Amino acid sequence: MTAVSSESAAPSTSSRISRRIAAISESATLAVDAKAKALKAAGKPVIGFGAGEPDFSTPDYIVEAAVAACRQPAMHRYTPAGGLPALKDAIVAKTARDSGLQATAANVLVTNGGKQAVYEAFAALLDPGDEVLLPAPYWTTYPEAIRLAGGVPVPVVADEQSGYLVSAGQLEAARTPRTKVLLFCSPSNPTGAVHPAEQVEEIGRWALEAGIWVVTDEIYEHLTYGGVTAPSMPVVVPELADRCVVVNGVAKTYAMTGWRVGWILGPTDVVKAATNLQSHATSNVANVSQAAAVAALTGDLSAVATMRQAFDRRRQTIVSMLREIPGVACPEPQGAFYVYPSVKGLLGRPIAGRTAATSVELAELILEEAEVAVVPGEAFGTQGYLRMSYALGDDDLVEGVSRMQRLLGSAG
Ligand SMILES: Cc1ncc(COP(=O)(O)O)c(C=O)c1O
Repeated sequence: MTAVSSESAAPSTSSRISRRIAAISESATLAVDAKAKALKAAGKPVIGFGAGEPDFSTPDYIVEAAVAACRQPAMHRYTPAGGLPALKDAIVAKTARDSGLQATAANVLVTNGGKQAVYEAFAALLDPGDEVLLPAPYWTTYPEAIRLAGGVPVPVVADEQSGYLVSAGQLEAARTPRTKVLLFCSPSNPTGAVHPAEQVEEIGRWALEAGIWVVTDEIYEHLTYGGVTAPSMPVVVPELADRCVVVNGVAKTYAMTGWRVGWILGPTDVVKAATNLQSHATSNVANVSQAAAVAALTGDLSAVATMRQAFDRRRQTIVSMLREIPGVACPEPQGAFYVYPSVKGLLGRPIAGRTAATSVELAELILEEAEVAVVPGEAFGTQGYLRMSYALGDDDLVEGVSRMQRLLGSAG
């Protein structure tokens, strides 16, 4: 574009893009997915383990509810910025059913996916310089959302030795007078780790005593395996409810990533503040999507039970196949649909005539030599790991990991 106004030709000391926005990096997970899709479109037989979304279609009864909503003139109009009353009621009922947390519609804000819920929760809670304890490996969006809201992410690393489970002791060691919030995500993206109830309670009690807020992301609540459950922190520690914001959404449970419906459930003052923000930023979430979410949440959980079975089968396959590769250590995840193997044993060793010094380089090597897309651990705050989503077809999964076995098994 050419500058046309004298105003834009005037000398300026400020940069074109604000420092706040220029500091945001591209989502590494979406970037890997885009690169894999581009290679596929160019005719390469790429197998992608990058995307964090179920490979199933949204169940029919949910789609039908959306079709019906399309034909209702009221759905063609603006609706309350904070969400359709019917959806707020459905979220309240679903929360009582699934986690046991009691709430009212005034505790709920319907957002444009869990992502907007995360951003708005931090925007409502943080002043410039407030620190957020962020257990690492962490979902790649958290630090960006924290910084965008003026906060300072403080990673607290839990490695494979602890099963990627952060402890209250570690959190206490990282606490400073500026600490305002703990971000808690169980089941975890990217590790699939699920904190047991005792540890959730220990962390919740620590937060309560330290006067720390908790933003708890429960978006993978229904994806747990082998009889494991993921308790909700404000249920395990009810006294914390007044300083706890739950983030959730329909994306992962109902294979609805593209519909963009999530929510915040929290104290009324936080919900009101976040609703005010949303009323200026995006207004109501698309009504048709909200109607679909009502059908999802008021229906049963049979669709997620079917997906869970498939994910569990794939989880066992991928873990056992990855464990056959010398230099790869793969803890068994108990939730979500990710494995997070350590590949430290492969770094610096010759593979197909090349060497990778970092997990970023190893992921590139795997994409170029084996045509398999994985996300390097750097995207999640820890170096020397790969994240692989097993939300893809069984045959592709076996073919993709077999290619990795052939390539990485040759490491010198
Ligand atoms: C931990 C976690 N929270 C929240 C989200 C947001 O999901 P969405 O914005 O699609 O509802 C994701 C998506 O990958 C996630 O992994």
